[in-house]
Amino acid sequence: MEERIFGKPMITQEEMRRRIQELGLRIAQDYKDKDLLMVGVLKGAFLFFADLARAIPLPLRVDFLVVSSYGNKKKSAGAVKVISDLSQDVKGQDVLIVEDIIDSGLTLTFLRKKFMARKPNSLRFCTLLDKPERRQTDVTVDYVGFTIPNRYVVGYGLDYENKYRNLPYIAVLDSIYEET
Ligand code: IMP
Ligand code: MG
Repeated sequence: MEERIFGKPMITQEEMRRRIQELGLRIAQDYKDKDLLMVGVLKGAFLFFADLARAIPLPLRVDFLVVSSYGNKKKSAGAVKVISDLSQDVKGQDVLIVEDIIDSGLTLTFLRKKFMARKPNSLRFCTLLDKPERRQTDVTVDYVGFTIPNRYVVGYGLDYENKYRNLPYIAVLDSIYEET
């Protein structure tokens, strides 16, 4: 099967499918006696979130929030802003925040502080990708799909100038421009 659309896959659909199944089962094990509320960070996490939720065999709840992203640039603006918040109270629930990628760590640090103030029973983070080389703050991520080198990647929810989110695999942005 030819899965290549544009850009060379850095992580293929099959690799992603397998890893998400593993993560889902691990999360299900960890949360089997808890009250899991999965919180997706939009827009970047939308595909990962949908696949991960289906890989967790538990009667979980879902909710979403939209945070400001890098805009049109490839560098973090530093300040994170919530554009649209959750539709429910998280107090007493076991919250799992689902992110597309942890880069500088600023978004995660911001979200941790914001969510802790709302007194959940527990708070954990899950990310599809982790780029530890670019970290600016000390963060702990509880579930990581793939650790990747310091390259700007797109696809599977991740964008460049709000494009390429629909690519069904992860590709290095430069590899797309090399071809066109
Ligand atoms: P952080 O706050 O620097 O950790 O950045 C997190 C956000 O930056 C992610 O949720 C993405 O939206 C964006 N981001 C960071 N690196 C990349 C990348 O390689 N491709 C696409 N988006 C990225
Ligand atoms: Mg994002």
